[in-house]
Amino acid sequence: MARITASVYTSHVPAIGVAIDQHKTQEDYWKPVFAGYEQSKQWIRENPPDVIFLVYNDHATAFSLDLIPTFAIGTAAQFQPADEGWGPRPVPVVKGHPELAAHIAQSVIQQDFDLTLVNKMEVDHGLTVPLSLLFGERDPIQGAWPCPVIPFAVNVVQYPAPSGRRCFALGQAIRKAIESYDAPLNVQIWGTGGMSHQLQGARAGLINREWDQAWLDQMIADPAACAARPHIDYVREAGSEGIELVMWLIARGAMPDVTDGRSVGPPPRVRHRFYHVPASNTAVGHLVLEPA
Ligand code: DHB
Ligand code: FE
Repeated sequence: MARITASVYTSHVPAIGVAIDQHKTQEDYWKPVFAGYEQSKQWIRENPPDVIFLVYNDHATAFSLDLIPTFAIGTAAQFQPADEGWGPRPVPVVKGHPELAAHIAQSVIQQDFDLTLVNKMEVDHGLTVPLSLLFGERDPIQGAWPCPVIPFAVNVVQYPAPSGRRCFALGQAIRKAIESYDAPLNVQIWGTGGMSHQLQGARAGLINREWDQAWLDQMIADPAACAARPHIDYVREAGSEGIELVMWLIARGAMPDVTDGRSVGPPPRVRHRFYHVPASNTAVGHLVLEPA
């Protein structure tokens, strides 16, 4: 059977993608950001997944105000990098896993979560920047990502966004779905976005280091309490775009210590934890968790 072997969490700042694409990772501003991922790049070389289930948000790229799915699973065979205004990022096409994605859709919908099935979609920085951070630069034509990726888009751009509690419960349903897939696949689940940031309005530029670190501590050790936090906490403390963090709770809910909405098993092992301010307008957070 398939199983979840790790969860990976990272911010997905678009300027990080630009820094990689324009070979600026060793410039003074960016060096400490990329240094924080070196250990994880080594770890993933030693622990390569067969498939990545990648939770991210679309930033009005594939979707718009015309159509706003709360939870959308990519079931296609491939996903082209989107043009977000400066041409598509020079990264390889993202290959999907239609068979596993269809199985997860079947199982999760039957567990009463209403997913939108997306058979055609371009993917934006929310998905491609995390891949670049963990796998480094890849030639867009000759190169490829090391494994198939199932995109899972969550609406955190246009209110109403799903609650942390619902995201956490959904993660548990996704693990059940993966564990009922009849092939010995090693699947990683990634949660992306965050940490504190606000891109617009009077508080644009808001960063809250203390809140971010406390949120990370709680998300690791007591995810049920973390999932109970209401939206207003994120908006008030972590800025309007800090709400992206609810996506991390999907990945956390999929870890095997979580049963019936609580962490009952031994907590996951923290293989790597990194926090840095700033990257563009954002506090960067990154975690690698493995089942105990
Ligand atoms: C920035 C961060 C994001 O998460 C995003 O989606 C867009 C921009 C930023 O910090 O500039
Ligand atoms: Fe974002």
